[in-house]
Amino acid sequence: MGQPVRICRDTWAITQLEQAPPLGSIFLNSAVVMAREPVVIDTGTAVNRESWLAQLGSLVDPADVRWIFISHDDVDHTGNLVPLLELCPRATVLTSWFAVGRMLVEQGLALPMDRVRFVNDGDAVDVGDRVLRAVLPPVYDNPTTRGLFDPATGFYWGADSFASPVPEFLPEADDLPGEHWREGFLALQRMLSPWHTLLDHHRYGAAVDRVQSLPITVAAGAHGPLVRGERIADAFRMFRELPHTGALAPFTQSDLEHWMAAAATTTAPELQEMP
Ligand SMILES: [Fe+2]
Ligand SMILES: [Fe+2]
Repeated sequence: MGQPVRICRDTWAITQLEQAPPLGSIFLNSAVVMAREPVVIDTGTAVNRESWLAQLGSLVDPADVRWIFISHDDVDHTGNLVPLLELCPRATVLTSWFAVGRMLVEQGLALPMDRVRFVNDGDAVDVGDRVLRAVLPPVYDNPTTRGLFDPATGFYWGADSFASPVPEFLPEADDLPGEHWREGFLALQRMLSPWHTLLDHHRYGAAVDRVQSLPITVAAGAHGPLVRGERIADAFRMFRELPHTGALAPFTQSDLEHWMAAAATTTAPELQEMP
């Protein structure tokens, strides 16, 4: 079971951690901003629904939620959107034309269009006591992606970016040895955005500048620990390295066979008879 983790004032992560051997474990997190009009940022995975809804309910009465920001339409970000729409009758979904269509075609998810507001890169959303802004993260794996910046606290939600594996439930990047974090961060950004090898580093650098120019105090992505303090600058340095790094070598069939052979030599648990 995951547990909520405080990100900064008014702001919490709803967490899920899954094993991803041989890399370690990977978070599948969402966030909640307790603005005057509370905002849920991404909705986790359907397989984690019970924990996800319990964590949300411990942070906010769903009846009070006013906004549901979908960073992109991948299923690990939309998994609990349907029950959430029922639980949060006052909430409007912040998404985009393309994401609405993709959710319908790929997930059979027909959003009530009178509860949808299109928020594109650069758009602002007034949530009562602050104005959030959608800002494209440096890397992403889906064309509908937008990040979200909260100027009241300096919190930036980077969607899939800022990902890095963790050896165990370590919600702060500062808790990882620097070299471990750096290696995992670079690997996951490259895996997420294999197009990094095609980038003109000047033009890409300008896109990174745009995000880094935000007064970020803590950056979070769905798939990594929280990045704050000096590690924010380290993260942006690593984003800038991407055009100069080669493609990430994928795991191969020989890796798979090696893992299967290793698993076969360990004692398999006895199969339980079905009742
Ligand atoms: Fe994604
Ligand atoms: Fe994701």
